[in-house]
Amino acid sequence: MVVVLLGPPGVGKGTQAVRLADELGAEHVSTGDLLRAARREGTELGQQAQSYMDRGDLVPDEVILDLVREHLEEVDSDTDILFDGFPRTTDQATGLDAVLERSDREVDAVVLFEAPDETLIKRLSGRRSCSECGAVYNTFFSPPAKEGICDRCGGSLVHRQDDDPETVKRRLEVYERQTTPLVEFYEEHQAQTTRVPADRGVDEVYADFRAAIVSGAAPSDGGRQ
Ligand code: AP5
Repeated sequence: MVVVLLGPPGVGKGTQAVRLADELGAEHVSTGDLLRAARREGTELGQQAQSYMDRGDLVPDEVILDLVREHLEEVDSDTDILFDGFPRTTDQATGLDAVLERSDREVDAVVLFEAPDETLIKRLSGRRSCSECGAVYNTFFSPPAKEGICDRCGGSLVHRQDDDPETVKRRLEVYERQTTPLVEFYEEHQAQTTRVPADRGVDEVYADFRAAIVSGAAPSDGGRQ
């Protein structure tokens, strides 16, 4: 099973993907996480991506497709995959189809998470991530027991540089301009595309997300088959 999680910055794609990947034993592939790892390691690709990410722009499609292709070489061809934040353009989507076709696979389902901009802005302003293990917290909704310290590993918590208000504004504009056409593309071409209202608690969102993937149908009125 190959699933694409779509949605604007801060809507909760990563939060939901980690949870379902844990439950299903699936591979969680976040291009944002892969790019941040490449930056930390100082690879050429990480350096190429840096200025785009700092501005809140999309990294060029060819760079992203190379990154994903390379990553998938390490993943067994029968492992379930949850793509988080990829693809984000129709060119990335057709590139992904070509990569999957080589191992006789295809995208089986697409889930679109939706929430109003006020919610996204608040979530991103409160997001804190562990610099050691990557665990994600929120100062408003899911704070750590001790401020600035990861409950899981004791690492220090950081506010992502691209979560500052100006860059968030830019990321939301970029989503609207470059990724909204992809939503339309999937709604036309991918029969199992489900909209999940994400302006609710994590558990409620997860129940609809899980239902859409595991049983192929979301129970909420927001579901679309
Ligand atoms: P990326 O890291 O993918 O960022 P994003 O898509 O903007 O998404 P986020 O990680 O910001 O949000 P999320 O939806 O995962 O929310 P989360 O679960 O963390 O990309 C960063 C950059 O890399 C891009 O700008 C671009 O430059 C580049 N890039 C990446 N992929 C690319 C691609 N394919 N093509 C080109 N460029 C690419 O939740 C957010 C916060 O809210 C957390 O604090 C969380 O705890 C909290 N939260 C989550 N759900 C809830 C809830 N239901 N209730 C309350 N709080 C919640």
